[in-house]
Amino acid sequence: MSQPCHLPPLPPFPHSRPRRLRRAAWSRRLVAEHCLRPADLILPVFVMDGSDCEVSIGAMPGVVRHSPDRVLRVAERALEAGIPALALFPATPLEAKTEDGREAWNPENLVCRTLRLLKRQLPELGLIADVALDPYTTHGQDGLVDGGVVLNDETLEALCRQALCQAEAGCDVIAPSDMMDGRIRAVREALDAAGHQETLILSYAAKFASAFYGPFRAAVGSATALGAADKKTYQMDPANSSEAIREASLDIAESADMLMVKPGMPYLDVIRTLKDAFHLPTLAYQVSGEYAMLKAAGQNGWLDGDAALLESLLCFKRAGADAILTYAALEVAGRLGR
Ligand code: PBG
Repeated sequence: MSQPCHLPPLPPFPHSRPRRLRRAAWSRRLVAEHCLRPADLILPVFVMDGSDCEVSIGAMPGVVRHSPDRVLRVAERALEAGIPALALFPATPLEAKTEDGREAWNPENLVCRTLRLLKRQLPELGLIADVALDPYTTHGQDGLVDGGVVLNDETLEALCRQALCQAEAGCDVIAPSDMMDGRIRAVREALDAAGHQETLILSYAAKFASAFYGPFRAAVGSATALGAADKKTYQMDPANSSEAIREASLDIAESADMLMVKPGMPYLDVIRTLKDAFHLPTLAYQVSGEYAMLKAAGQNGWLDGDAALLESLLCFKRAGADAILTYAALEVAGRLGR
């Protein structure tokens, strides 16, 4: 794809007419190089406490936090629509948040309870869960904090305990997402030692310190906790792409099964770079802020929202993504199926 082209030069116009292939719908379809299928989509779902209830999320029209029983309904619809997997994100009640985020390894936490419910009822649906402390800490950082410093090594044990809890509850894919060092190896060793050799690890190999996470942080309640602080000492600088190669190499050496790039649309070059360099399954996360932009422009009539959404997702495939996490997975899968 990114190799230089060694083909003989094309005959010039008027002999060459690239428009010939674009003239009819059938030939455009015939020569389309990429396509978007429901099987390419992963649905992120926000889970909250309670039963039979949901709460809508500001800046994410059509997205809600669900109680676990409602997540099951959503999961059934996803499975029916041909979506292979769900990614769960908890909105942890304030009273369960602590300085050390210990709720992360409580086997009765929201994510673990929901994983067990889904795995029991829908064993064929893939389940993904993040490993990071931010949903559970009072300060909103992804790791343990000491004197304002987010600690790398000291957080490892907590993350391994969280990963084990989630694997035991039925999680198929553990996704260490804090962008700190040595995560993949530590989690792999902990999983293997506990007999979870088959549990997959999805490395958030290139996760950037991005302004596009705003609506997500509001949805899971980490925005208030974080306040004016940021995550720039561990998430990547949006200015960098070679660093993404180093990050991914390290995670692959530590045995990552899949890579993720996040956010998505502003980072398509990074997806292409990682895909070409490593040939590993490479996922993209169309994050909350991207979803918000597309929906807002659509609602204002400034864009054809439906068309722009489909185009944005197809472009992830063209850039080399094997699958895309998107809050629009259900609506898009429904439209693709028709
Ligand atoms: C945190 C996490 C974040 C997202 C997913 N997991 C945000 C953050 O780093 O604060 C953002 C996803 C989105 O914006 O949709 N581990």
